[in-house]
Amino acid sequence: MLRTRIVGTGAYAPEKVLTNLELESMVETSDAWIRERTGIVERRIAAPEQASSDLATAAAERALENAGITADQLDLIIVATVTPDTPLPSCAAYVQAKLGAKNAFAFDLVAACAGSLYGLSVADQFIQTGKVKHALVIGVELLSRIVDWSDRNTCVLFGDAAGAMVLAPGNEGDRGVLSTHLYLDGDAAGILHIPGGGSRMPASPEVLEQKLNKVHMNGREVYRFAVRALQDSVRTALQANGLTAADVNHVVAHQANLRIIEAVLSRLDIPLERCHLNLDRYGNTSSASVPMTLDEANRAGALKPGDVIAMMAIGAGMAWGSAIVRW
Ligand SMILES: CC(C)(COP(=O)(O)OP(=O)(O)OC[C@H]1O[C@@H](n2cnc3c(N)ncnc32)[C@H](O)[C@@H]1OP(=O)(O)O)[C@@H](O)C(=O)NCCC(=O)NCCS
Repeated sequence: MLRTRIVGTGAYAPEKVLTNLELESMVETSDAWIRERTGIVERRIAAPEQASSDLATAAAERALENAGITADQLDLIIVATVTPDTPLPSCAAYVQAKLGAKNAFAFDLVAACAGSLYGLSVADQFIQTGKVKHALVIGVELLSRIVDWSDRNTCVLFGDAAGAMVLAPGNEGDRGVLSTHLYLDGDAAGILHIPGGGSRMPASPEVLEQKLNKVHMNGREVYRFAVRALQDSVRTALQANGLTAADVNHVVAHQANLRIIEAVLSRLDIPLERCHLNLDRYGNTSSASVPMTLDEANRAGALKPGDVIAMMAIGAGMAWGSAIVRW
């Protein structure tokens, strides 16, 4: 069996910064509350003319350059997103065209904030079986378009961004993706969802008026669920590879809330210093979070050959998972 390696990373965040202080004038909140409860200080907001495929393409171009390959060498593109440019066709179709990746088949994958880990796992299967040589996994979200800017429970949390990973078969021993573990509990779908705008409740004046086409969340339930699920999935992943917490050199986590990450890592006995953090600058960017964080660590030169990276992410579904990668 071939072993999948991450051979390139890239990220893109829109220029416009929205600070906690600016949010104070939009909803009843405070910089202190947001920092203390989430760790977020500011987030990026896409320009009106930008759609998800624009952010995705920018991140992908950087990842391709980092990998040293051209778009026509790609065989597969997976775009993990809950904010495609249009309901039809896929966001991946626009990204494929913008990149000029004419040899790649491409599709969207919906697993919310766990989307990039799901995408990594799917692409890993294609590469391991030899069906695909070069795969591009992108996580992209324009969450600013689907949050209710009058709801302080949600609007302070999210940001817009894209992250990308280029995958290829490796031939350097056990370097590469060692495992992926994916989970979903559909019974918990109601704690984080967009109730309207789909086939159950198509867009209508009522849906718009009641903001049923925006994110609705039970924050406390999501928090509780996330802490339990993430620690279980990382523990399972470490055990599956015969590793312990002490073997983990880096944690690349979905950046939803600093308190969730702290709680999970302390229960796993992994020091917080091993976790690459950027949610202070970007907030929760959903599926973009993991590849964007990995890209920051990669470009900072923090990842050394042979280092063990534990990845974890969770989001609406509830969908979650973990991956262990030997860099
Ligand atoms: C959302 C979250 C930050 C709220 O933190 P919390 O400590 O659980 O706060 P609570 O929900 O208990 O709310 C405490 C109070 O703060 C208020 N509050 C909520 N948002 C606020 C805001 N932006 N500013 C000020 N006050 C706020 C609440 O209304 C509540 O007031 P009340 O006690 O009068 O009802 C936290 O639950 C969380 O991070 N959950 C996970 C969310 C997440 O990660 N979602 C994405 C997953 S991918």
